Amino acid sequence: MIKVGIVGGTGYTGVELLRLLAAHPQVQLTAITSRKEDGMPVADMFPSLRGYVSLAFSTPEKAKLTECDVVFFATPHGVAMAQARELLAAGVKVIDLAADFRIKDTAVFEKWYGMPHSCPDLLDEAVYGLPEVNREAIRNARLIGLPGCYPTSMQLGFAPLLAQGKALVNESALIADCKSGVSGAGRKAEVHTLLAEASDNFKAYGVKGHRHLPETTQGLQAIAGRKIGLTFVPHLVPMIRGIHSTLYATILPEARNTDFQALYEQHFRNEPFVDVMPPGSHPETRSVRASNKLRIAVHRPEGGDLLVILVVEDNLVKGAAGQGVQCMNIMFGLDETAGLKQVPVLP
Ligand SMILES: NC(=O)c1ccc[n+]([C@@H]2O[C@H](COP(=O)([O-])OP(=O)(O)OC[C@H]3O[C@@H](n4cnc5c(N)ncnc54)[C@H](OP(=O)(O)O)[C@@H]3O)[C@@H](O)[C@H]2O)c1
Repeated sequence: MIKVGIVGGTGYTGVELLRLLAAHPQVQLTAITSRKEDGMPVADMFPSLRGYVSLAFSTPEKAKLTECDVVFFATPHGVAMAQARELLAAGVKVIDLAADFRIKDTAVFEKWYGMPHSCPDLLDEAVYGLPEVNREAIRNARLIGLPGCYPTSMQLGFAPLLAQGKALVNESALIADCKSGVSGAGRKAEVHTLLAEASDNFKAYGVKGHRHLPETTQGLQAIAGRKIGLTFVPHLVPMIRGIHSTLYATILPEARNTDFQALYEQHFRNEPFVDVMPPGSHPETRSVRASNKLRIAVHRPEGGDLLVILVVEDNLVKGAAGQGVQCMNIMFGLDETAGLKQVPVLP
């Protein structure tokens, strides 16, 4: 059994990790931290886990993290990079759900996250945890920087277009119009996520620049091997879980005869968690709720030169905890789908 620790077990991605790992056939939950809820049984805070998780929260100092095989950090930015070195030295693998190990250029990290990077040497070693792009590197990694929720949908949505040797679309003017449910902001109390603020409302935010832009641009450029230009507009929608990303790309004249549906089906043919839907489909966020699936539909309105790609995922699963478990499975040589076979919850 793989001994797993979670730092930050009282947040939304922490409880999602607990839900997935409690049912994982090869995992023994060993340590779960909260600074505020030290001593509280997990099931007292999350009644959904009663009968599944018998641990209590403890402070990070008291938790036996170095006795684990792998530790997940479901914490704000800056926490994992302060503790990763000690854990790695003790032979513990680390999977960070925050941004500490995502962005390779420390100057870019420091600009967007407003803090110095405390371990650039570990950043060099860290692997970006997007299995559909980086599976082989993840297999041998000790340290994973998991993608953000929006970046997962944007990168997998654009990947088949950019992974070809030659450009098929205008790569300098990609557009991502993305909508997220409120759990994307975490469980901390903030005015903009109050019921009276977020429900019955729909708004864009971060248009002039959002932290997920540099990460996504870095990932798309790695896939393409060329420079790309991306406009990313996130929106907050009044639902709890889910991301719906509508991606736009203008087809180049020389690529007009490409069968884009076939291109997507071929690209993802062996991926257990990516579903390329039949032509004309409109994927819904509820069709992936609480599952690690990401569904994609490829459209070419009126047969014209604008490609419209629809992508849905659950931000807490394929956008965070589920992707982390998928990486863990790969790192430990397990079946990649172990503990991740849940059917989405609908309605
Ligand atoms: N929500 C999403 O959809 C999503 C998706 C992808 C990635 N992420 C990323 O995943 C991370 C966690 O997100 P979340 O939404 O689960 O956040 P959250 O709901 O705000 O939970 C944060 C957790 O971290 C703990 N924590 C806070 N400061 C800490 C510190 N200095 N040391 C140790 N523990 C600390 C908190 O517990 P205590 O304060 O009691 O210790 C809490 O359990 C974030 O970096 C976020 O950007 C979130």
